[in-house]
Amino acid sequence: IKKITTETLRKMKFDKEKITMLTAYDFTTAKMVDAGGVDSILIGDSAANVMAGFETTLPITLDQMIYHTQCVVRGVERALVVADLPFGTYQSNPEKALESAVRMMKEGGAHAVKIEGGKEIEESIRRIINAGIPVCGHLGLTPQSIYQFGTYKVRAKEDAEAEKLIADCKLLEELGCFAIVLEKIPAALAKRASESISIPTIGIGAGPDCDGQVLVYQDMVGMNQGFSPKFLRRYLDLYSEITGAVSQYVKDVKSADFPNEKESY
Ligand code: KIV
Ligand code: NA
Repeated sequence: IKKITTETLRKMKFDKEKITMLTAYDFTTAKMVDAGGVDSILIGDSAANVMAGFETTLPITLDQMIYHTQCVVRGVERALVVADLPFGTYQSNPEKALESAVRMMKEGGAHAVKIEGGKEIEESIRRIINAGIPVCGHLGLTPQSIYQFGTYKVRAKEDAEAEKLIADCKLLEELGCFAIVLEKIPAALAKRASESISIPTIGIGAGPDCDGQVLVYQDMVGMNQGFSPKFLRRYLDLYSEITGAVSQYVKDVKSADFPNEKESY
């Protein structure tokens, strides 16, 4: 199996081949997602929501993200494994940022890290990349800043924020980031951003002209019934499938139908 690298993604943009990314937080899911052929697997700090049930991504710790990453890495043969650095582990100073990124690579086994922000975290990005660690940027709706935004609505609809986003894209490219996630911004702005840099953009709620797309696995297989933003395409209705299977199991046990003779020793 030919492993996907950050260079592969760069070349895919050059060749106009779309890049695919999905999240995974555990071994079993990572195996299926890798077998399905995605180019990159993201251990998102959305694990705070999806795995732990928190309202925001803020509470998840670096130790917890490292654990999720270790689990995913054991299940992956082909995809590029990118891990989010969680809130508070890279914003304060470049030394701490590097220390966090090193732990994620060394203990977690990630192939790259992703961090949220542009100009504000320039020195942290520089420091991490100088240590030989590939960095994926993340601009637009950056959920670690939710208390500053106040809502999860579309970002950069106003000119000032849109121009800052374009400037941040160029800065991240200049700093040596290998890709940038663009979350929940107008499609036209994402198109402009993608055309203004030579590193790939990976969109979520950012329209069809990004160089790649990313979704949260549990959302795209329909496990989260309560979450249905416009940008989400559901490929399965696993919530119904699984609750259905569970209720059938409950019936079968209650009625002493399970286990039967063939299922017994
Ligand atoms: O944490 C996450 O799942 C993410 C993706 C939505 C890009 O950052
Ligand atoms: Na994230």
